Amino acid sequence: MRSIKRRDFLRLSAGTTAAMLLSQCSRSQPQSSIPISAPIQFQTYTSKGGLLSLDLEAKAQSVQLGNRTANLLAYNGTVPGPLLEAKPGDKVQIRFTNQLDQPTNIHYHGLHIPPTETGDNVFLEVSPGKSYTYEYQIPANHPAGTFWYHPHKHGLVAEQLFGGLAGLFIIRGELDEIPEIKAAKEEFIVLKDFALDSNGNISDTGHMAAMTGRAGGLLTASGQINPAMSISPGGLLRLRLLNASPSRFFRLSLEDHFLYLIATDGGAISAPVELSDVVLAPGERVEVLVQGNQKRDDYRLINQPFNPAQGGMMGGMMGRNQNSDSAETVATLSYDSEYEEPGLPSHLIAVEPLPEPQTTRQFTLNHGMGGGLGGDMGGGMMGGGLVFVINGKAFDPDRIDTQVMLDTVEDWEIVNTGSMAHPFHVHTNKFQIISQNGRPASYLAWKDVVSVSPGETVRIRMAFRDYTGKTVYHCHVLDHEDRGMMGTLEIQQA
Ligand code: C2O
Ligand code: CU
Ligand code: CU
Repeated sequence: MRSIKRRDFLRLSAGTTAAMLLSQCSRSQPQSSIPISAPIQFQTYTSKGGLLSLDLEAKAQSVQLGNRTANLLAYNGTVPGPLLEAKPGDKVQIRFTNQLDQPTNIHYHGLHIPPTETGDNVFLEVSPGKSYTYEYQIPANHPAGTFWYHPHKHGLVAEQLFGGLAGLFIIRGELDEIPEIKAAKEEFIVLKDFALDSNGNISDTGHMAAMTGRAGGLLTASGQINPAMSISPGGLLRLRLLNASPSRFFRLSLEDHFLYLIATDGGAISAPVELSDVVLAPGERVEVLVQGNQKRDDYRLINQPFNPAQGGMMGGMMGRNQNSDSAETVATLSYDSEYEEPGLPSHLIAVEPLPEPQTTRQFTLNHGMGGGLGGDMGGGMMGGGLVFVINGKAFDPDRIDTQVMLDTVEDWEIVNTGSMAHPFHVHTNKFQIISQNGRPASYLAWKDVVSVSPGETVRIRMAFRDYTGKTVYHCHVLDHEDRGMMGTLEIQQA
């Protein structure tokens, strides 16, 4: 792996504004200097001898969130839940117990595993007090990457995720063996907002937020507020970022540093891409490298205000819920010595372009007032509020919306005719973004979430491989999903 200089990189801004210059990197933007807290730590389960085996329990309990005690929903007593780590080819066995007072289940977001039986089956339900054993195999050719798990019981997903139920699922493989990446210090940042009242209970975010997407003012990085991060003597930091918030978007930048994108939702890209900031819609992940090439100091990882729903009738109103008003500190990187400019890897892992599609379909995303649109509205929960639809229909688990053939390739055109941004997510198979509003993607990447802004059309390409059965696609603003913005996908044997 030959190291290359910064000027060799494609320079891109993931945000909607022009790329900022390094010298202008907002040293002064977040006013409040919140204290730096202890480094991030996870309860970790790693596979041994080809088996990842653990007991996992979901339960309402009090946990430490920054310097506060909060009454949340936790996996094994921790928020975020334990970090799971496996390798391609491993067997996974999770003995899950539901100690909540409502039904739940587990979805393995981004993993390419069977969507049926004891695998990534979001149609099954684990009743309160009941247990269920998830058992599946990670394919031997599964890419390395940053995946995650969270509840997926339709109607309750936003509530349970906002309560704290989410954890990382890391697959280690080829990407982790690249020397520069192997030598890098690694930090896992689960971005999650909370709304707590003075007693530490989850506060009611209001009727409007419960319809458009709930968000909270307490911003945490892996359950901590402004944790300390350090860099290895080699001078490279690998940040693995997950947006596990039910509806909040993040736009992150690190003071005086570029972020070198090395992986997206579905794993590595083919070469690092230099970014001044990175946008994460709910459900999205990125991995970035940071070069420790500045003077010894503290540098803040900052979340800039970001409004994905520009314009439109409801833009202002939605904006309030889908993003924050001012820049906030997420974490702080400190280095206590000067490092020589550390080299970045020049090549990562080739991303093969998918072959031309056999079929093209359209999915139109919008919302309307409840009642009269049909489908499963979740009983009284709707209260006559907004209903979110795909191709005019709200979710019905018993209806098959889309049938595809195994081993075929399709293009899906996702059209947003509404006034809120909708991060579109597909289970089981990952996809490549072909174009956004007719603009071809600037690099090939494996994705499982793509945000579609109001008025936008995004074309994605997907191959249905290895598994047949029924699975889903939906908006990852989980209040939208709970209010109908989900469809069923049946993958049939050719
Ligand atoms: Cu992370 Cu179906 O969702
Ligand atoms: Cu998912
Ligand atoms: Cu949505």
